[in-house]
Amino acid sequence: MLKNQLQGDADRLQDNASDLETIVDKAVSRRGFLRGGAAAMGLFLAANPLAQAVAAATKPAASKLIGFSAVRASTADTFIVPEGYSAQPLISWGDPILRGAPAFDQSGTQNAAAQAAQFGDNTDGMSLFPLSEDRALLAVNNEYTNYQLLFAHKGDAMTADDVRKSQAAHGVSVFEVKQNADGTWDYLNDSAYNRRITAYTEMELTGPAAGHDLVKTQADPTGTKVLGTFNNCANGQTPWGTYLTCEENFNGYFSSSDADIKLTAQQKRYGIKAKDRGYQWAKFDERFDLAKESQEANRHGWVVEIDPFDPTSTPKKRSALGRFKHENAALTINKDGQVVVYLGDDERGEHLYKFVSKERYNANDMKANRDLLEDGTLYVARFNAAEGELKGKGEWVELTHGKNGLTKENGFADQAAVMIFAREAATQVGATTMDRPEWVAVHPNNKTVFCTLTNNKHRGKKDGQPVGGPNPRINNKYGQIVRWWPANEDHAAAEFNWDLMVIAGNPDVHSGNLYAGSSNISNENMFNSPDGLGFDDAGRLWILTDGKYSNKDDFAGMGNNQMLCADPESGEIRRFATGPIACEITGLTFSPDQRTMFVGVQHPGEKGKPSHFPAGGDSKPRSTIMVVRRNDGGIIGA
Ligand code: FEO
Ligand code: CA
Ligand code: CA
Repeated sequence: MLKNQLQGDADRLQDNASDLETIVDKAVSRRGFLRGGAAAMGLFLAANPLAQAVAAATKPAASKLIGFSAVRASTADTFIVPEGYSAQPLISWGDPILRGAPAFDQSGTQNAAAQAAQFGDNTDGMSLFPLSEDRALLAVNNEYTNYQLLFAHKGDAMTADDVRKSQAAHGVSVFEVKQNADGTWDYLNDSAYNRRITAYTEMELTGPAAGHDLVKTQADPTGTKVLGTFNNCANGQTPWGTYLTCEENFNGYFSSSDADIKLTAQQKRYGIKAKDRGYQWAKFDERFDLAKESQEANRHGWVVEIDPFDPTSTPKKRSALGRFKHENAALTINKDGQVVVYLGDDERGEHLYKFVSKERYNANDMKANRDLLEDGTLYVARFNAAEGELKGKGEWVELTHGKNGLTKENGFADQAAVMIFAREAATQVGATTMDRPEWVAVHPNNKTVFCTLTNNKHRGKKDGQPVGGPNPRINNKYGQIVRWWPANEDHAAAEFNWDLMVIAGNPDVHSGNLYAGSSNISNENMFNSPDGLGFDDAGRLWILTDGKYSNKDDFAGMGNNQMLCADPESGEIRRFATGPIACEITGLTFSPDQRTMFVGVQHPGEKGKPSHFPAGGDSKPRSTIMVVRRNDGGIIGA
């Protein structure tokens, strides 16, 4: 989640008994679910039979999957990895990636053209695409930018070129990386593959919304040619060699020159406001002025598919995957060949979605797969549970025009309207409101799926967000990870079973209630606000946090944002890395041999906090991708 001042504003504005069952039961009892006694707990735990039943459970057994020594919580301005590992910066915001680009200059006076040829700001989701044994492409999201650092004037004297520079700091960077004989990695600043995609790169809108009246603008009467992608949060990767970038808080870039403009219910549902939040794009780019162009915002909030191997290719916005504040796109090939993509909408009380392709994946013809994401069915999750239960069943409800009340009478004229206003469609069909779904990850065995629910201060306090099911805590400060098993191991199935793999908490501050966290949380591994999530090939689950780093009160002992490794089988969670001051850890990918991990350090030193990461001294803090290796060249995490 964005953490700079601009995004802080955006955040505030968000105020708005089958075999499977047996597996679930076993998994829950094996892990010994909850920590601490139930006696002292307030309303929830007292009425929670499961919690009481497992309250005396022991700690999880030591994992065979996890082989490193845990790292302690840290408040240091550095990136710390376990003993026997090293971490080196690969690339930082502003490093040149296109031929002829200037080197980074920390004065904040470099222009838009320079930024458009340099690595964008705030590194986020990323994927690695192998080219050969020792070369690969990295496609990386550049989520947002912080004017305090981007401009010498800190955003107080914006010009047209400054807005263009801000737009160029956003989007996606694609660049080649090379592994050296000693195992280290460098990025190549002169590779012909290198590319910047920004908030003004031309893209094609495809799928049900393409060409619809709701996406036509004065500049694009066809409703198919969209300029740019921005607020690119996390990502996905397809087996046919394309990169998926997910547009998250797109609303924050729009504003109105007419302060009295009447916004529609749909605009409000997506958090669009008349008041500028600091980016000031509307001042110099009329597309972002709601008073002049009311429909541009309908063209953002999508998943975009990019071919990283062809720097001249046109990115495609895939409207069949719905429009919301996309976190990531976790793609799997179902056993019948259908492509299934799990998608979170990161906002308090929003939903979890699933796309199932119409056509099937062809493992023998990659070109034939190129448009699999253009046509399919979108579903939204409904979680069911008996009162107080931390597991249960769930169902996927179809978001297809004409079904489940998605009719003209209810405000949905056609399938395009269902996709463009997917949030409202989800509400119409009774989807479960969640504690901010962030990343989804599919286990390599293709049987279970995990999603981080990062936190939700509105839980139990705001209409439509009752405590219960996978969102069991009022004013959820710490977050949890929900896991589900599709019925019959079929990702296209309508039904699933779910439980919570972990409830984050602080056992030093709370006891006897869910704020202490589940039994696999101790004062040695505690964290808050799980966000990034990904598996390695062996089935280790990597958890990246974007939480409070005050290290006091409810967050005492947690230190800076961090990265943990979990064994989903035993339930053990071990801290693997800690980040520098005021950063978030986000973005994760591995080399094919699993001996190098690429992980992102985003917004060190946000809000003026005293970080000089990574260069030290009195340098400006810069978002940076770290390369993590084992000193003995072994498998990461093992
Ligand atoms: Fe960009 Fe929900 O994090
Ligand atoms: Ca995130
Ligand atoms: Ca977040």
